[in-house]
Amino acid sequence: MSIIILGIESSCDDTSAAVLKDGFELSNVIANQDVHKEYGGVVPELASRAHQQNIIPVVDLAIKKARISKKEINAVAFTRGPGLLGSLLVGASFAKGFSISNNIPIIDVNHLHGHILVHFIKEIGKEKKMPSFPFLCLLVSGGHSQIVLVQDYLSMQILGQTIDDAAGEAFDKCAKVMGFPYPGGPVIDKLARDGNPHAFKFNKPRIDGLNYSFSGFKTSFLYFFRNMMKEDRNFVENFKNDICASIQFTIIDILLEKLILAAKQTGIHEIAIAGGVSANSGLRETLHKEAVKRGWKLYIPEIKYTTDNAAMIAITGFYKFIVKKFASQTVVPVPRIENIQDTYF
Ligand code: KG4
Ligand code: ZN
Repeated sequence: MSIIILGIESSCDDTSAAVLKDGFELSNVIANQDVHKEYGGVVPELASRAHQQNIIPVVDLAIKKARISKKEINAVAFTRGPGLLGSLLVGASFAKGFSISNNIPIIDVNHLHGHILVHFIKEIGKEKKMPSFPFLCLLVSGGHSQIVLVQDYLSMQILGQTIDDAAGEAFDKCAKVMGFPYPGGPVIDKLARDGNPHAFKFNKPRIDGLNYSFSGFKTSFLYFFRNMMKEDRNFVENFKNDICASIQFTIIDILLEKLILAAKQTGIHEIAIAGGVSANSGLRETLHKEAVKRGWKLYIPEIKYTTDNAAMIAITGFYKFIVKKFASQTVVPVPRIENIQDTYF
């Protein structure tokens, strides 16, 4: 019997629904929310309202694009957290209603778990190289930076993580300081392509082990920015490519140092990346070079699977469905990861 999963993702500012059949993507619809652009960041109340408007048409479209009938769906998987409470509530409430009205199980998914399992989403007519277990995944998003030891689809261990800001936050905050639109990561990525990565030097953290820290770098950038702007009001305008290339170089350098250490400590050479920041072209390029140098087998997701999407929730739901890890109707969203470690694994 085939297994068809409807996935729902609504943790931040994208409303997404996807249908997967036996791990093959039949549809993956994402509605972005433009309302936040003028505020320089996601406004939680506006995000929640936009999810409420988007959720039904997005699910409807995902089912139509998949060319299946609602009756064929075996389970509905939704993001339980981490994320914004008001946003998570929309997806969770919808999933509960859908499960009751169609008399199918409901599956709660940790958003971060979903990011990692994008490597197992299959596409009809496409060959895909999938990591073999165990592998290391550098998970870098707007809210998290972790090195995860992935032992199996449902068995993972966080080896290191940020003790303050995430890598995506570092990109976004530097961009905001310079007056670039939100999210700043892709803007910096684009400008960095024509810049000199060694033009400016910023602080790098000195932390033992496999944990990350980006707050020192962020502060060092802020002071640098203020000093330079005092001397030259057009500093950003005149040097934007070099500034962005230097920011990007520093963030990648910080990320790579600990990833290399994790590979050495574990002896694992299967290396994957995931999360919004894994779309960064500099990071992808640097990883390719490191992989050749170090004999790593590298797994980089297609750009469409780097940022938030429901296919990643559906694929995680698929593997939980196989072992019947269902949630009850009393399940509630959990905005902070610390409280849902058990559903991560
Ligand atoms: O995974 P994601 O879509 O949402 C979270 O779960 O946080 O990640 C969003 C983050 C934002 O910080 C955004 O600036 C960053 O990913 N991002 C990038 C790029 N594309 C998205 N950062 C650097 N370079 C990019 N090309
Ligand atoms: Zn995400």
